[in-house]
Amino acid sequence: MALLAALWKLKPILSESSEIQEILKSDFGDDFYWGVATAAYQIEGASDIDGKGESVWDRFTSKKSHIKDQSNGKIAIDFYNRYESDLKLLKNLNFKNFRFSFSWSRILPDGTGKINEKGIDFYNRMIDTCLELGIEPWTVLYHWDLPQVLEDKGGWTNREIINWFSEYTDLCTRRFGDRIRHWMVLNEPASFTTLGYLSGIHAPDRTGIHKFLASVHHANLCQSEGGRIIRRNVKNSHIGTALSCSYTEPHKMTGSYQRAAQRLDVVLNRLFIEPSLGMGYPVQHLPVLEKLERYIQPQDIENLKFDFDFIGIQNYFRVVAKPSIIPYIRANRVKPQDSAEVTAMGWEVSPEGIYEIIKQFAKYPIKEIIVTENGAAFPDQLINQRIHDQQRIDFYKRYLQNVLKAKNEGINVTGYFAWTFIDNFEWAEGFRTRYGIVYNDFETQERTIKDSGYWFRDFLK
Ligand code: BGC
Repeated sequence: MALLAALWKLKPILSESSEIQEILKSDFGDDFYWGVATAAYQIEGASDIDGKGESVWDRFTSKKSHIKDQSNGKIAIDFYNRYESDLKLLKNLNFKNFRFSFSWSRILPDGTGKINEKGIDFYNRMIDTCLELGIEPWTVLYHWDLPQVLEDKGGWTNREIINWFSEYTDLCTRRFGDRIRHWMVLNEPASFTTLGYLSGIHAPDRTGIHKFLASVHHANLCQSEGGRIIRRNVKNSHIGTALSCSYTEPHKMTGSYQRAAQRLDVVLNRLFIEPSLGMGYPVQHLPVLEKLERYIQPQDIENLKFDFDFIGIQNYFRVVAKPSIIPYIRANRVKPQDSAEVTAMGWEVSPEGIYEIIKQFAKYPIKEIIVTENGAAFPDQLINQRIHDQQRIDFYKRYLQNVLKAKNEGINVTGYFAWTFIDNFEWAEGFRTRYGIVYNDFETQERTIKDSGYWFRDFLK
């Protein structure tokens, strides 16, 4: 499925130039949430200590060829041991919100059943440290690291996952719900179902249209069920889910290109929001979704709905679409022009895309939109203990001014989380691509604030 991998990693052709304007924190209002986002497997390390079970990412990275630099998250950035000093650093950068995810296999090493109290203790210590520092914890229940034992039973393709996930969610909300108000159910279900179950370039390395479709439907059911469990168990909760999204436009204004753009739009942007709003699956624009029928049980249509308090949108680039021979989706991205500004991921910098996608989501009956991830990897250089990452600062300014534009037009955008705090393990890319506003030396684990970190510190003052 190299073509599909390409679909995910290539970037659109049109280059955008949005002038950089100075923005102020006060432009966004006093109640706006400013935070950084992280994920368990990318930062924690301690992958097999204190009773943690194996996750699909532990297994996937054990095959070195899966990761571009042959690395893994065994140690990652050792957040498990360094959370205290890292959170103090975050406070010094003036962020008031910290987003992390729970590692399911640290809490339930067998996926279900026996609870690992040492894992629970770690999250208790970490959450308490946040609160002592005046940092609000925001959590994501699932950021891609399924317990391997559950994957061995079919993982997201097995409908039983609704029960497994409910047990896990119930446990987390009971143990941590007294101190955490902000919960997100899933991180980017469109990414983990396509990359993990269709193209196989992420864990658990499974491929095939039916594996993909089954995992899509079960992830949608878990998304709504997770929301219901949080609402039941956590008082005064603020519940969301975090969706990847990319504004998608046709390369040419002709029928076949427009239909290709519609098909990509379904996969990238519509597959996990519309079922939750009671709109069902957008079969009309992506006919292969008719095959979902075999997984849908009568009560499911009702169960797919959940009234989220907010929708997290995670945006990095926009997509310019063309027809292609990729099976089922029959669409692909157009490669960018050589002159386009791209990140170290090869993704085109397209700040106006975030404005367009916020506008697109705002057409749905959503109460609140929060940008739960946005950021960029650039080839940073540590010189005399400084990292002059002006390109990243400009990236943030340009994307933020587009977020502000949407907000000023009356869209209820209430927060922004930068991806990410400290350079970390970037999935199949390994440690090669640095996204942090803080630099990490992966040998010594020494943290160095980048210029972008100082920029945020001053901006948020
Ligand atoms: C994911 C992060 C990832 C980031 C940058 C998002 O898709 O949620 O885990 O590191 O993008 O690629």
